[in-house]
Amino acid sequence: MAYTLPQLGYAYDALEPHFDAMTMEIHHSKHHQTYVNNANAIVETLPEAYQTLSAEELIARIAELPADKQTPVRNNVGGHANHTLFWQILKTGTTLSGSLKAAIERDFGSVEAFQAEFEKAAQTRFGSGWAWLVLENGKLKVVSTANQDSPLMGAAIAGCSGTPLLTLDVWEHAYYLKYQNRRPDYIKAFWHVANWDEAQRRFDAASK
Ligand SMILES: [Fe+2]
Repeated sequence: MAYTLPQLGYAYDALEPHFDAMTMEIHHSKHHQTYVNNANAIVETLPEAYQTLSAEELIARIAELPADKQTPVRNNVGGHANHTLFWQILKTGTTLSGSLKAAIERDFGSVEAFQAEFEKAAQTRFGSGWAWLVLENGKLKVVSTANQDSPLMGAAIAGCSGTPLLTLDVWEHAYYLKYQNRRPDYIKAFWHVANWDEAQRRFDAASK
């Protein structure tokens, strides 16, 4: 069962002016497609039992794989899983409310304090990687990962763990065309396109 590039579910210009159409199109149709292609090439070399797993299921079991398969799976299946999530948590016009807002206020003190911690994680991730809001053991945390690592890979590999609720791609390919070197401006723009409805749905699912 080969992976395929998921549809965005919205137009490339749907997030303008915060995330521009050209970046979205190249990011989705070129960068993500390359992760899909490379992921399929490595997955077909894995033992058969792993070939039917979803990308998220596979990266959660990465430690079981032969040593020489772990790095290509980490980079490419990780890239596919991370981008698939990223497209889902982008939407304009949603607001943080309800039980997720209450949990953020409980665990970070305030929404503003959460945003400051998330922005810091995104800004201080050196080189390429991702910032995350995760739920682990009933508690919300902000973490960041390098390259295409995911909290789903677990702390031994990714340096952190938890169920992702929200994530931001801080690879240069995610912002360079519009923001050039200004990663902080791109991070600030994220708050206009963070899909709180999807984050709430994930929070509810992970809280059960
Ligand atoms: Fe990306």
